[in-house]
This record gives sequence, C-alpha cells and structure tokens, in this order.
Amino acid sequence: MYNVKNITNDLYWVGANDRRLALFEGVYDIPTGVSYNSYLLMDEKTVLLDTVDKAVAHQFFENIEHVLNGKKLDYLIINHMEPDHCAELQNLINKYPEIKIVCNAKIQTMINQFFDLSFPQEQYIIVKEGDTLQTGKHTLQFALAPMVHWPEVMVTYDTTDKILFSADAFGSFGAIDGNIFADEVDFDHRYMDEARRYYTNIVGKYGPQVQMLLKKAANMDIQMICPLHGYVWRKNLNIFIDKYQKWSTYEPEIKSVLIPYASVYGNTQNAAEILAGELANLGVKDIKMYDTSVTHPSYIVSDAFKYSHIVFASTTYNMGIFVSMENLLHDMNAHNIQNRKIAIIENGSWAAASGNLMTEIVSKWKNTEIIGNRLTLKSSLKTDQREDLKNLAKEIAATF
Ligand code: FEO
Repeated sequence: MYNVKNITNDLYWVGANDRRLALFEGVYDIPTGVSYNSYLLMDEKTVLLDTVDKAVAHQFFENIEHVLNGKKLDYLIINHMEPDHCAELQNLINKYPEIKIVCNAKIQTMINQFFDLSFPQEQYIIVKEGDTLQTGKHTLQFALAPMVHWPEVMVTYDTTDKILFSADAFGSFGAIDGNIFADEVDFDHRYMDEARRYYTNIVGKYGPQVQMLLKKAANMDIQMICPLHGYVWRKNLNIFIDKYQKWSTYEPEIKSVLIPYASVYGNTQNAAEILAGELANLGVKDIKMYDTSVTHPSYIVSDAFKYSHIVFASTTYNMGIFVSMENLLHDMNAHNIQNRKIAIIENGSWAAASGNLMTEIVSKWKNTEIIGNRLTLKSSLKTDQREDLKNLAKEIAATF
C-alpha cells in the first residue's frame, strides 16, 4: 500500500525505508536502517527527482502510482547514478516509456554503463551547469557537484519554492520514522551522530569538493533541503550547514580526546584507561574511548572528524600494528582525516614496532602534529611508567 508524505502542496516524498539491510554499501552497519528518498513534483509537467534502491522498489512504484493518480510521468531528473538511487531505472522506463530523462552527460554515460537500455536519445535532456527546466509553475535549475559523492553528481534547485534537492549531501543514515522533517524529530540527539557517520564515511574524503558545493549553495536562497537519505530540512538549516562547513574543512567540532586502542590481553587498554582518567583529572570533558577490535571503524572515523585530539594506543602484532588498529588507521587515511593533534602509545613484549609504524601513517596527514612523549610498554604498564602517563596527559592538555 502507498506511503507518501507531503513536502509542499505539490511536492511529495515517494521514497521508502529499508530497516533490514545488514551493511550499507556492503561496509557500514545501519542499526536504525536507511531511507531512499525520491520526490515527485506535481506541476503542469510531472517530475520525479531520483529513484530508489531495488530493495524498496515495490513500495516506490505504489507511491508514484498513487501520487500520479492517472497522470503521465513526464520527467525523471537523475542527480546521482549510484544504484541505491538508480537501480530501478530500467523498470521505471518499462512502466513509463514516454518519460524524458533529465541528466548531465556524465550521468548518461553511467546509465549506459549500468544498463543495456535502448532508450531513444531524443528522450534525454542533457543539462549543464546553470541550465533550467520549466515545468509549469516551477523552474528547476541544475548545478554540478562532482565527487559529492561520485563524479557525475549534480543537485537541482527549485527556484520557485527555494528547495535544494541535494543528492547525497545533507543525508543521514537512519530510516524515516513517520515524520519527514528534521524539525519534527530530536535530530541532534537521535540522528546527528548518524548524519556525521554517514557524511564522514561516504563523502569525508572529498572535503574540497563539498566546499565547492557549499559555495554554490551560499548563492542560492535555500528554504528547504531535500536529500537522498534521511530527513528533509526546512528550519534551522544553518545547524546542518555549519556541520558540513566543519566536516568538509576537517575542523574539529570539540576540543577533546578520542582514544582508540587495540589490546590483546588488556595491558594496552589499561594504559589507555589510565591516560583517559588523567585527562579527566585535568578537566578534559567528553573523552571517548574505543576498542578497535569491538567497534566498526566507521564509528571511530566519524568521531575522528569530531574530536581535536586522538591518542592511538596499539600493541605490536606480527611485528606490525595490531590488525584492527592498522585497519582503522588506513581507513582514516582513506577518508583524508587531517588537522589533528595525535599522541601514540605502543606495546610489545619483545620488540615494540607499532609506535613507529603508526607514526609513519599519521605523520603524512595534513596539518597534523604528533604531540607528547610516546609511551612504550613492554607487556604491561610498570609503576614508574604511571608518571609517564600522567605527563603525557599534561602534554596533551597543554595543547588545548
Ligand atoms: Fe546514496 Fe552515493 O549514494
């Protein structure tokens, strides 16, 4: 049965939720699900903005049919060609063969990569930066947003109702629980962490490209943001735009210390716990610790974008960095993390090697400084080293 939501008088959300997907993109667990947003504009011409993942196709087609109520579907605008928004393209064309596809040239190339379509060229409207589409009352304008999150991405701005259809930008993990607007839920409490985890892991690498999009957006009068995942923003847009500003410039949100540790028998953990306590004694608030063997890197990457300081504590394993920590560090590297202050704790029962290896990785990060005296444990923390940990805490706190 259809399940649509009114966004404005003539704009409808016709997307759907997936609450059973184990891993988004085969990588990220999504305990609160994910929504695939598609929007249907019922102007003189009818316009579908993006489609959905194949997992929710049934719901999606029922939704479109209900809103169209017998009207013809005139246009499909494709802002992003990733299959979580395009997997149903062939089926959509089969159902609405007269539809015109509005996209840019890169998107058209990708359509032909993903599908074996015999779709006539005259049914394509290929757009460039700044081009517009008149649909009756509404004028839709297109702006390219390459690498937010793929090279073909564009966004669509409804100049009539001042709505930005932002593709993956301003999206979030988490299904839509009845409400459709971010101001109708306790977004900060319930969704901001997942919005950060979504941004940092999906688009975090492409900060400069997100900055380009934010600059374009600054020249638009935006009253509403309709992303491809998560809630629609119509109030306090600056809250989310400010977050994007920070995330895309790798500026920490808080001055505090994140401590991911890798510990086989608990001795490296012991040092990390004591350090965290000493930092707390110095007045540092909201310290966060993660066991890298327990928590998926996507959560730690996300907090790495939030915290100003990171202490990596790892035992040595096979003369290298412990596997879960090594994985995390490479993941952070891949997400372009930078502009942080880093301290290192290593452990090794016969030859501690993890400290140098971790330093080698993090010292390549832009605007990143290694602070404090590295602490080296030989199997376990010894009484005389407790003072060293206290001093390391002081050295870290001194850089706040
Ligand atoms: Fe939600 Fe980049 O796809």
